[in-house]
Amino acid sequence: MILLDGKATAAAIRAELKDEVAALRAAHGRAPGLAVVLVGEDPASQVYVRMKVKACEETGIVSRKITPPADIRQEDLEALIRELDADSDVDGILVQLPLPLGLESQSILDLIDPCKDVDGFHPVNVGRLSAGLPGFKPCTPAGCIELLRRYNLSTRGKKAVVVGRSNIVGKPLASLLMLSGDYGDATVTVCHSRTRNLADEVRQADFVFAAIGRPRFITADMVKDGAVVVDVGINRTETGLVGDCDFEGMKDKVAAITPVPGGIGPMTIALLMRNTVQAFRAHMEK
Ligand code: GUN
Repeated sequence: MILLDGKATAAAIRAELKDEVAALRAAHGRAPGLAVVLVGEDPASQVYVRMKVKACEETGIVSRKITPPADIRQEDLEALIRELDADSDVDGILVQLPLPLGLESQSILDLIDPCKDVDGFHPVNVGRLSAGLPGFKPCTPAGCIELLRRYNLSTRGKKAVVVGRSNIVGKPLASLLMLSGDYGDATVTVCHSRTRNLADEVRQADFVFAAIGRPRFITADMVKDGAVVVDVGINRTETGLVGDCDFEGMKDKVAAITPVPGGIGPMTIALLMRNTVQAFRAHMEK
């Protein structure tokens, strides 16, 4: 079994980006800038945002953390996004999700300039991905694909099953797997809570992507021998963080699997850094 080490791979990507950022900074007189908006005090979101800010520091990206209170009015949050859109020192804008109850996230995401939408959540970027056009790709799905690329695990012509249909992971991951290329060109099935015989669907898969958000939901009996398993889940349980897959149960059955933690989590953040550098380059060429 090959352990797909997202932690080490993400560190390698950050090291590559650090050199790239230093060169860009020398050429353009400033470093790429990322605005991170964290509304309220959700503890999990605070952890994620802290990791994103830390990754910026490591790669030389200038981060600006903005932390409005949970009771900010919708129109005031919208005004903040408009300010960031207009700020020429801000290359990328990230609004940490989920937003507190009472705030409507889609109309916030719709306001982010698609050229600064480093999360790839704006409908323009969603559409561009779907159409196979260049644009920002959501960081978690892009991190899954990049991890496979670094381990030379091509999905071309293979059966891929994505479990989960969220806008943040499942749907964009299915889109990426359908693009042309060595790490696309898959035959993709998307399963969700209403899928009949989910276990039978997953058992067909050469590549299993688990993004359901239920601890150890995918068990060893559901995966075929020699499958590649990418576990996107991060679930807090009494025994600590666990993924959506029963790692211990299936580790001797699969060809390759990501650990949780240390798998897709760090890759998501590395790809956010890469998207921010991409935003900066495009901004400088305008
Ligand atoms: N919440 C869970 N995943 C993500 C992500 O990739 N980006 C943002 N902004 N919020 C999230």
